Amino acid sequence: MKLSHFHAFEPLCPRCLVGGGGEVPLVIGTVVRAVTHGGEEDIEEGILLCGACRMEFPILDGIPIVLNDLRTFVRDNLSHLLTRTDVSPVLESVLADASGPGTVFEAARQFISSYASDHYGDLAPDLERPLIGPAAPGAVARHIAAGFELFGDAPAPQAALALDLGCSVGRSSFELTRQTRGLVLGLDLNIPMLRLGRRILTSGRVNYRERRVGLVYDNRDFVAALPSPERVDFWAANVLEAPFRAARMGHVAAMNVIDCVPSPATFLHEIERLLAPGAGAIVSTPYDWSAAATPYEAWIGGHSQRGPMAGAAEPLIRSLIGGDHAHAARGLELVGEREIEWHVRMHSRSTVLYQCHLMAVRRKA
Ligand SMILES: C[S@@+](CC[C@H](N)C(=O)[O-])C[C@H]1O[C@@H](n2cnc3c(N)ncnc32)[C@H](O)[C@@H]1O
Repeated sequence: MKLSHFHAFEPLCPRCLVGGGGEVPLVIGTVVRAVTHGGEEDIEEGILLCGACRMEFPILDGIPIVLNDLRTFVRDNLSHLLTRTDVSPVLESVLADASGPGTVFEAARQFISSYASDHYGDLAPDLERPLIGPAAPGAVARHIAAGFELFGDAPAPQAALALDLGCSVGRSSFELTRQTRGLVLGLDLNIPMLRLGRRILTSGRVNYRERRVGLVYDNRDFVAALPSPERVDFWAANVLEAPFRAARMGHVAAMNVIDCVPSPATFLHEIERLLAPGAGAIVSTPYDWSAAATPYEAWIGGHSQRGPMAGAAEPLIRSLIGGDHAHAARGLELVGEREIEWHVRMHSRSTVLYQCHLMAVRRKA
């Protein structure tokens, strides 16, 4: 956790924030290990502390875990939190063959493979896939560039803070530094993904295993020249309860995450809460609903085919963004929208292609 980001973003105790205890800033309670990257102090292991409720939030592998329901998260993620990260690719493949499919380890490897191959595959010097076409890697970087184009020529607020909600392995957070002037913070709940983003940030090297077929993964390892890594950091936090004061953010990105949360409408309200007056957010989604992530009553479209919108998602989300829906985030307005392709690569012979709805949204002044 970079000190620059801690001081600029001023995290609040999520437990007090959600539990009605108000906006209580966290303090650095304990530093177990810190390093310096490019003259910048970075806490690799330590504890953030709430002065009011005395809740402790761990910083592990440089990633602070700032969550209201910390106990459930840590209990559910203990194997990820305590996973070794120094196992060589060859021993990793021996362990994968020995344990077989269906393990937590294998699921994490597949996720990393899918997201890292889109986020960083276009930067690999030995890329075997075409760099053009719908399944070309780098789609999330194209989302960020296209999203900002929808704002037209509106000048970016000087040194405004930016949040990348559901940042996964982090390419979009780096890309946000091209579009903005201030610090960028990527938030996610997936520890292996955050850890990869963090390793890329601190080492300048992209290293992950890319799935070829079955349990066979190829080692990808290359130097990537990413823009302004000194302005980026990654934290574990819930995007529905982001632990920050209202109206602090100059930019928010939420790429392909609104259909992954239990309450999409709450997510739009959270974006509204976080944005400063006049500030902008870019939101994309393939509306790829699953009941495992979002109870179907909360889906934006995808049900109630006999209703006035015939189950369509697009008019419903427009009515939720500053429109006339009963649950609308009334402080937001839709500035522009377009369609854009995105994909999730499963293995060398399978890539799921999505058509996403990309929207530029502004907090009314
Ligand atoms: C479909 S992926 C999209 C990742 C990335 N934005 C992209 O477009 O490639 C959704 C991401 O949101 C994260 N996520 C889902 N629910 C979340 C929550 N409540 N808080 C933080 N992150 C969340 C997931 O861990 C995952 O990395």
